[in-house]
This record gives sequence, C-alpha cells and structure tokens, in this order.
Amino acid sequence: MIVLKSPREIEKMKKSGQIVAAILQELKAATKPGVSTLSLDQLAERWIEKFKVKSAFKGYKGYKHCLCASINHEVVHGIPSAKRILQEGDIIGLDFGVISEGYYGDSAITVAVGKVSPQIQTLLQVTEQSLWKGIEKIKIKNHLSDISYAVQSHVEKHGFSVVREFVGHGIGQALHEDPPVPNFGEPHQGTLLQEGLVLAVEPMVNMGKPEVFILNDGWTAVSADQSLSAHFEHTIALTAEGAQVLTLT
Ligand code: MF3
Ligand code: CO
Repeated sequence: MIVLKSPREIEKMKKSGQIVAAILQELKAATKPGVSTLSLDQLAERWIEKFKVKSAFKGYKGYKHCLCASINHEVVHGIPSAKRILQEGDIIGLDFGVISEGYYGDSAITVAVGKVSPQIQTLLQVTEQSLWKGIEKIKIKNHLSDISYAVQSHVEKHGFSVVREFVGHGIGQALHEDPPVPNFGEPHQGTLLQEGLVLAVEPMVNMGKPEVFILNDGWTAVSADQSLSAHFEHTIALTAEGAQVLTLT
C-alpha cells in the first residue's frame, strides 16, 4: 500500500532531508586516509544529537550504528568498525538517514579517499548520473519502472552493472514503504506516479558483474567478483510543481 503525503508532510520530510544532507556533507569532509569507519559513525551520531533528531538506522532490525560505511567492493550495509581504516585510493559509500518530527530522510553518497584512478572516478560519476537519470523520470503520469529503466540503461551504456538484490523504496513515517524501486527493468510498467509520492531512489552499481552476497556479519553486501561498487541515494517528493529532491543541500 502506497502512502501519499500531503504538502505539509512533504515540508516535514524536507526538513528531515536537509538535515541528512548537511550531516552527509560533514561526513564527506571528514573522509580522509587514516580515519576509521567507526569514527565517521561517531561523528554522525554527534551531529544527530546536535540537530536533536533520531537515527533512521540505529535499532533497525538490530543494526547498531547510525551510518552504513561500505568500502571498495562492499556494495551496501558495511558496519562501522575501529579496525577499518581508510586508505588513499579507497572509495567509501556513506549511507545515512534521520527521523525528524516522525518523518524519515535517507541519502547516500560514494566518496573517493584521496586520489583515485580515472576508471574509479568514472564509476562514481556514472552511478551518480544514473540516480539523476532516474530522478528525471519522477513526473506525474510516468510509470514507476521508467525510473528503473533510466537508471539501468545509463549504467549499462558505460559497461557497469546494477545490483538486483537491493532496491530503492517509498519513504515517509517508515524507512521502507511501498513501492519498491528497482534499478532495473522494462519501461512503462508498475504504478503510475502521482502527487504526494515520496521515493528513495538508490542505484548500486558494480564495476564488474551484478551478483552480490552477504558476509557472515549478516549485513555487509559485497560484489561476488570483488569488483568495486558505488551507491548514491536521494529522497525525492513528487509535488504539483514536479519532483523535489529533499536531500539536496
Ligand atoms: N539506507 C538503507 C536503505 O535505504 C538502510 C540501511 S539498513 C540499516 O535501505 F540497517 F542500516 F538501517
Ligand atoms: Co534507502
């Protein structure tokens, strides 16, 4: 069941999204060689306290942190750890969300640690561009899978692959609402997009093959072929004036 949001609710979600965006920028600025992923999680927690909001992730299905930090071939849901120290040339996915006045905001970026090769820069660019190709399809009377098709086409045009096992989602008073938003599929399928729909679109893109598996920690998803993986996510509301990206600074 899809829960459409009123303009008032979308205003609250925008507040939540703006806080997520601001904190993600702080985390990006702190992402440097020598920093542990646990210290980034702790920084996220301090910002959550400063903004007087709640973590969207801590406590979710037993997850113990505010941040998912996924390094290199880790696709999503990497668990912050004092033992995971960033090195020059790594890439790290930072996935973060908050609850403000009962409404969720969810966003992710993938950041280069120091200098990375041109090929890796291309992976990051193509993944972020694919998110925007999807966002461009969030229009009244388009179909849900128009988003999916736009993301997949852009990624595959560049020789990369989209992960199938994890998808975007509706978002509101819960982190994961209907509808699921796959990053693959044929166009013109699924529900018609209408005013009040709020979606988290989140392409996960592998440099190699699309298959992933989950490590024994029960969370960390990695690419099966060990290829590098990138992830970008925004929370977007469809209003009478068109798509509004709530998690943009
Ligand atoms: N941001 C992720 C998503 O969109 C959620 C992370 S799982 C959690 O589904 F356990 F960390 F919350
Ligand atoms: Co999400």
